[in-house]
Amino acid sequence: MTLDTTETTSGAEEFAPAKVNLALHITGQRADGYHLLDSLVVFPRIGDRLTASKHQTAVSPMDQPSATATDARKALHLTLEGPFGSELQQTDSADNLVIRAFQAYCTAVSCNLPDVCLRLQKNLPVASGIGGGSADAAAALRLAARLTGRSLPSRDLQKMALTLGADVPVCLTATPMRMSGIGEILSLLPPLPAMGMVLINPGVGVSTPAIFKALDRRDNPPLPKLPPRFADLDGLMAYLQQTRNDMQEAAEQLCPAIADVVAALNAQPQTLLARMSGSGATCFALTRPGTETTLATDLRQAHPSWWITSGLLG
Ligand code: C5P
Repeated sequence: MTLDTTETTSGAEEFAPAKVNLALHITGQRADGYHLLDSLVVFPRIGDRLTASKHQTAVSPMDQPSATATDARKALHLTLEGPFGSELQQTDSADNLVIRAFQAYCTAVSCNLPDVCLRLQKNLPVASGIGGGSADAAAALRLAARLTGRSLPSRDLQKMALTLGADVPVCLTATPMRMSGIGEILSLLPPLPAMGMVLINPGVGVSTPAIFKALDRRDNPPLPKLPPRFADLDGLMAYLQQTRNDMQEAAEQLCPAIADVVAALNAQPQTLLARMSGSGATCFALTRPGTETTLATDLRQAHPSWWITSGLLG
């Protein structure tokens, strides 16, 4: 295995956009405890960045031993940067999903590990319902494919992604999807109209397993039938009004700040829909395109301690 030098001298980069659940219905539970869901997932242009640059003291890839989990931990170095880098630093970086994804990919394609330094610009809050860790793991799989120059059959890649986390498969392509099963059944959504999105996190972490455990019901109806296309943003809103995030009530009870965020969003005239994403605590507002920036600015003034960002979708 040789590295593509043009990529490594300039640095190969993968964008890891946030995953936002526009709707999330919990429809059942498997015997192993994992929950069955039915969800509409979108990816705003807001996210982390994973970069690989060539190691200063590079060893010829031919001199390296074959990739094993131990070798991978030795060879791969991950630097965490950005507004939420230090939060992630507090966890064991060897167990970081990025490293695990790289290891898994190189082992699966029987390649030595690329002799690179990895840098993760962590712009998304950690453990916050917008799939930061899953997006990073998916970006690592895409980067590993580029650096090794070896591809895996898509079915194998999806399977590997699922072993890293239930949200990793949908983050691999980062295109709007309907996601069901525990996250492994994916189908493309009809084209979505352009819209603005504001993401808000009140600065409190919530435990995904704790929210799942606190659910009142696990047998909710699936999403209503999707139309072949949404005529416009009003059509999408009319559809979304019939949907929910089935985890929101339990999350608001465990973490009242989530209800405060949703109430603050609903009080703003630009908000078309306000809801929690995933298991929280990050919430989103959908707006007409172009009005998301003023909504974000107004909220920042009223709530300077909240993490607030905005972007476009569609
Ligand atoms: O797959 P991931 O590591 O992201 O999941 C974190 C935890 O969330 C799991 O250990 C499980 O308790 C819960 N979970 C679930 N059903 C899902 C996804 C996650 O119960 N579909």
